[in-house]
Amino acid sequence: MNRLEGKVAIVTGANSGIGAATAELFAKEGASVVIVDLMKDNFNEVADRIIANGGKAMAIPGDVASLEDCIKVFNETIRRFGKVDILVNNAGIGDYTIPTIRLTDVAWEKSIAVNQTGPFHFCREALKYMTEANYGVIVNVASVAGVYGNAGAAYSATKHAVVGLTKNIAIQYAGKGIRCNAVCPGATLTSMLNPENEKKFDQEMWATVQKHQCEDIPLIDAFDQANAILFFASDESKSVTGQIMVVDNGRFL
Ligand SMILES: NC(=O)c1ccc[n+]([C@@H]2O[C@H](COP(=O)([O-])OP(=O)(O)OC[C@H]3O[C@@H](n4cnc5c(N)ncnc54)[C@H](O)[C@@H]3O)[C@@H](O)[C@H]2O)c1
Repeated sequence: MNRLEGKVAIVTGANSGIGAATAELFAKEGASVVIVDLMKDNFNEVADRIIANGGKAMAIPGDVASLEDCIKVFNETIRRFGKVDILVNNAGIGDYTIPTIRLTDVAWEKSIAVNQTGPFHFCREALKYMTEANYGVIVNVASVAGVYGNAGAAYSATKHAVVGLTKNIAIQYAGKGIRCNAVCPGATLTSMLNPENEKKFDQEMWATVQKHQCEDIPLIDAFDQANAILFFASDESKSVTGQIMVVDNGRFL
């Protein structure tokens, strides 16, 4: 039996990296997957690949920072698949790790809108359906920066907020059929973090925030993060809520 047979899952930021790996893995495990990302129309390679491989998927263009788009995603998911069992709040933006004295209000607000308010809106909307069904699983994708603060100020602050949101939702719904956990990826090879992108960081700041980490730890494959997300999404973790799983290849031991 597949681990997500019959489940309906919304995955935000599923056009690339960790989100795309999660969508593909979920579909292989029997879920109907709703792919939400910043694309212009419903055409989406990840969704097409899932469907070509015999899975069920639908792509919905949407900006997680927009409440209107968030509500549209849930309405269209209900119309097409009839329910929402799983939400993965994965969409996020980095902040190129610059010193705080150079961080503009515009960049700060943008990080809050995408990394923090987006997951809040998606959780709130999902909980409306999940409380009616007395069933639901939320997996938030935070970051090691949400535990250790080892990035820019906006990114670290918003990812700490996601960890707080996760723990709070878990407490509110503990024992009521709804679970909420977070995966905190360490440096993972995606378009957000790769050797080319690292060159754009302020190198002094990057060295400063990295100094408490083990060096020479290889970048992680996006599917390794997806496997941790799958564990939290599946009934294998049915007694686990409010937990934060760091998947960082031992960088912070
Ligand atoms: N790659 C890493 O090293 C790393 C480490 C820690 C945490 N993370 C977190 O993992 C998550 C996934 O990142 P990734 O590494 O796969 O990066 P990625 O850039 O490959 O994927 C992020 C996806 O989110 C989408 N997105 C961005 N803003 C959006 C918005 N406003 N609305 C909808 N979609 C939006 C992008 O289009 C993209 O497809 C993010 O939350 C990120 O903060 C990544």
